[in-house]
Amino acid sequence: LKLNRRQFFILSAASAGAVLLSPQQSGRTQISSDRQIAKSQVYSSTDGLLDFDLEASYRPVNLGGIRADLLAYNGQISGPRLEAKPGDTLRLRFTNNLTQPTNLHYHGLHVTPTGNGDNVFLEIPPGEALTYEFTIPSNHPAGTFWYHPHLHGLVAEQIFGGLAGLFIVRGELDEITEIKAAKEEFLFLKDFELDRNGQIVQPSPMARMTGREGSLVTVNGQIKPTFSIATGGLLRLRLVNASTSRFYRLELENHPLYLIATDGGSLSEPVEVRELLLSPGERAEVLVRGEREPGLYRLLNLPYDRGGMGMMGRGMMGRGMRGGSFTQRNPETLATFTYSDSIASLPLPQKLIPVEALPEPDTVRRFEINHGMTPGMGMVFLINGQTFSPNRIDTQVRLNSVEDWEFNNIGVMDHPLHIHVNNFQIISRNGRASPYRAWKDTVVVSPGETVRIRTRFADFTGKTVYHCHIFDHEDLGMMGIMEIT
Ligand code: C2O
Ligand code: CU
Ligand code: CU
Repeated sequence: LKLNRRQFFILSAASAGAVLLSPQQSGRTQISSDRQIAKSQVYSSTDGLLDFDLEASYRPVNLGGIRADLLAYNGQISGPRLEAKPGDTLRLRFTNNLTQPTNLHYHGLHVTPTGNGDNVFLEIPPGEALTYEFTIPSNHPAGTFWYHPHLHGLVAEQIFGGLAGLFIVRGELDEITEIKAAKEEFLFLKDFELDRNGQIVQPSPMARMTGREGSLVTVNGQIKPTFSIATGGLLRLRLVNASTSRFYRLELENHPLYLIATDGGSLSEPVEVRELLLSPGERAEVLVRGEREPGLYRLLNLPYDRGGMGMMGRGMMGRGMRGGSFTQRNPETLATFTYSDSIASLPLPQKLIPVEALPEPDTVRRFEINHGMTPGMGMVFLINGQTFSPNRIDTQVRLNSVEDWEFNNIGVMDHPLHIHVNNFQIISRNGRASPYRAWKDTVVVSPGETVRIRTRFADFTGKTVYHCHIFDHEDLGMMGIMEIT
């Protein structure tokens, strides 16, 4: 059964029932004694080995001054930052101290999807441990990657609870003189929804269908932090959308952003942009110059309509439904940037790392993206008419082949589609060629759009997945399995 936009929301509303609660954030417990925010721990590789313990648990944390009970890696929100270099081996002893099973995924890394590598079919029961071990290829691009749980059916809940962290691969891009000279900041964007006791608010069935969002947006586990642009300096921002479903349309007041890297690493040269849309899972690296009057500049999240319930429910549901989904109507401040002297000095790099042009594809595949109603299951999210099954291989591909995949969204909401292990390039959107070449692993496909991407299946065989990165949609079935042979 296919539904149009209106029918979709009426059905969603009907199955959601009356689970709407009003936000009450005024009564939150403030942590007064400990306003100091612990900087996220960093684990770096030494002598080619990144070796450490990681534990997932449910525990009280200080979320930007608010006491909250969240799911955390090593007790931190966000999780420890991992730093490695191409050629390094990761050995991560993972312990699951949650009350439900979980696992780990290394989003964007080009590493093996089998064994104890980036294998999302592993399941670690509560109270048990598993050692992840894999080697990052020596020709792996430098970039901003991240890790998060990936156990089908529980991903949205666990990420919304707080589980996620940065995974930085340092390499060629970091060695470019101008970039090396820049001050580096990480902006890990994550939303939460808490009740007055600092407990995670569970989403309504409707919010599950549209994709749960929280009204408390954090940057590195802080609320509206301030970053300074060093005098005479250039700022390099590494942005990650680590939210379950929330999109960010970012603008730094009065400042152009010089895009230098996307999901999979460097562009060939900087691209000047006014704003940046980051859907869940996407990353970007930008340079910012202190090129205006000294002062304070806000990093704004601008209104964006991803086809959540806001479009039908403005009057009916209002904004800020707890754990709900809403279209943001006014710009909100996420962070502040400050500098005290005008900066004219540091130049932008002219050239970055060349992005190769992939050869013409051996195969072209089409994927129809939609949702539908299934007897007994209610609303499900579909790729080519099918909901996820762990026992089915949806797409068989051959190692070293180049393929074009066309994602055609015939539904009513944006879907950020993500492919594991092998990064891709966006070739065209509704037939219009991409303005520049870039390595991506997640791409937003809006209703009515057909996006063509090109990828080469290199280095690794085995089973892995592609899915919508609105994790409620993935948990509700918008995922397929591919096998590389
Ligand atoms: Cu970020 Cu399959 O995930
Ligand atoms: Cu991924
Ligand atoms: Cu989706």
